[in-house]
Amino acid sequence: MDYTFLMEKAKEVIKNSYSPYSGFSVGAALLTGDGRIFCGCNIENASFGATICAERSAFAAAISDGAKNFEALAVVGADKNGVLKDGVMPCGICRQVMAEFCDGDFKIIVYGNGKIKTVLLSELLPSAFTDFRK
Ligand code: THU
Repeated sequence: MDYTFLMEKAKEVIKNSYSPYSGFSVGAALLTGDGRIFCGCNIENASFGATICAERSAFAAAISDGAKNFEALAVVGADKNGVLKDGVMPCGICRQVMAEFCDGDFKIIVYGNGKIKTVLLSELLPSAFTDFRK
């Protein structure tokens, strides 16, 4: 599957990033199993720990709308000059949030060496903490 369209959506959202503290703008686009796309950007805060990453913003939008099955998420970041950065990967907290709602075969679309590549959640977080009540 060619996820270029999903990466293009993630790029579009960069313009909505609220990132006055880091100057680093991140966009994410989350594709559901039924073909819907939910977008998110990073939203920073003067109290730095209250910052929300783009990936979690996208999941919050999707879950809030009732979405349940997720296929792939594209994430991309740009510096304060709008230059896209290579090798932007989801942070650890975002990986754990993905593991809450997605299986190991969930696809994460990123830029590596100047081109789009797909990595699996199982590769990024092989030993996620899971619900021990199950
Ligand atoms: N950021 C994301 O949006 N996603 C990540 O996976 C890592 C980091 C944001 C948070 C902060 O606003 C900025 O990038 C710099 O850390």
